[in-house]
Amino acid sequence: MKDIMISFPTKVMIGDGMLKNLGEQAGSLGKKAFVLYDPFLKGSATLQAILDDLKANGVSYTEFDDVVPNPRNTTIDRGAGICAQEKCDVVIGIGGGSAIDSAKAIALVMTNGGTCWEYTERQNEYVHRPEKPALPLIVIPTTAGTGTEATPCSVINNPSLKRKCTIINPAIYPTVSLIDPALMTSIPPLSTALTGIDTFAHAFEAYISKNSNDWTDTIALRSIELFARSIRAAVKDGSDIEARYDMALACMLGGWSIAQAGVTLPHALGQPLSAFTDAPHGGTLAACLVQIIEWTLPYGEEKFAKVAEIFDPSLVGKSKAEQAAALPGLLHKLYKDIGVDVSFGGYGLKEEEIPAFVDLAYTAFKQDIDGHPKPTSREDVEQLVHQCM
Ligand SMILES: [Fe+2]
Repeated sequence: MKDIMISFPTKVMIGDGMLKNLGEQAGSLGKKAFVLYDPFLKGSATLQAILDDLKANGVSYTEFDDVVPNPRNTTIDRGAGICAQEKCDVVIGIGGGSAIDSAKAIALVMTNGGTCWEYTERQNEYVHRPEKPALPLIVIPTTAGTGTEATPCSVINNPSLKRKCTIINPAIYPTVSLIDPALMTSIPPLSTALTGIDTFAHAFEAYISKNSNDWTDTIALRSIELFARSIRAAVKDGSDIEARYDMALACMLGGWSIAQAGVTLPHALGQPLSAFTDAPHGGTLAACLVQIIEWTLPYGEEKFAKVAEIFDPSLVGKSKAEQAAALPGLLHKLYKDIGVDVSFGGYGLKEEEIPAFVDLAYTAFKQDIDGHPKPTSREDVEQLVHQCM
C-alpha cells in the first residue's frame, strides 16, 4: 500500500478546435498578455487569429518570439525583462516544449524576481524557492511531446555552463492548458516521431518508477495505449486528426504521470546529451531507451511485460520474462517504422566528454536516477553512455 497524494491545479481543455476559447480564458485572467510563441508561428494565420481573439476579449498584448530549442537561461531572462517592462499580467506560451517551458519560467520570475537559473534544481547548490505564485499562465502546445502542459517543470539550458537543469515547483503548473490537435497537423514526420518518443518515455518512465502508484500507473498505461495505437498513423499522415488527438492526449497524460511519479534513467541520460550537443530531447531518449531496458532487466520485469503486451497483443499468455524480453525488439521495430535511427555519438557526443556527462547526470538528474527500478551507480551510467555511443 502506497500513500497517494494528487494535486493538479491546471484547467485542461482538450479537443479539435479548442483554441477558439483562448481569448475568453485570457480575458478572465488578465488585461495585458505576454504572448510568447515559437518563431515558426510568426506571420501565420493561426497567430493572427490568436491575437485577434485576445483583442476581441479586451486583452492587449506584447509579442515575444525569441525561442530556440533547449531554451536558454539568458533568453528567458530577457523575455522576463520585457514582460515586466510592458507590465503584462498574464503569460501565454504557444509552441513546442521550449516555448512553453520559457513561458513558465518567465511567469515565475515575474512575481519572484531574480534569474530563471536560480530556480533550477541543482544538488548541493543554492536553489531559489519561490514564495509567491507565478503570473497566470496559459499554455498552448503545438507538439505532442514534452507534456509540459501538465507538469510543474521547466527545463532550462545554460550553454555557458554546459548544463541543463529543471525548475520543479508547483508554482509553475499552467493555469490553463489549451490543447488543440488541429495545431499539430503540420508537424513534420521526424519531429512527430521524436516528440512522440518523448511522450512514450514519460509514460513509460513514470510507470516503471519507484515512485509510481496505482494512480500514476493508470494514467501512464492509458498514455502508452494511445501512443501505441496512433504514433505510426500520426507520423505517416500528419493530417490524421484522430491520431493527432490520441497523441495530444497521450502527451498530456504522460506529463501528468511524471508530475506525480517523476522520470527515471532515460531522462537522466537524455537531458545531459542535449546540454552537450543540443540534440532534440526526444532523440536523446530514443538513443538510450532500448539499451536501458536491456540493462535494467530483470528489474521491472512485470511492468516491462505489461508494456510489451500493449505493443504486441500476441504476447498475451506468455511468461512475464518472455514478454519483457520482447520489449527492446518491439521498440526497435517501432523506431524503424517511424524513421528513427539515432545514437549519442551520432548527435556529436565525444568520448572524452563522457566523464563530465556522467557528472552532470549525477548532479542535476540524481532524483531521476534514484527513481529507476534498478540501483544505478556512476559506473553503470558511464557504461550505459558508452553503449549508447
Ligand atoms: Fe521528456
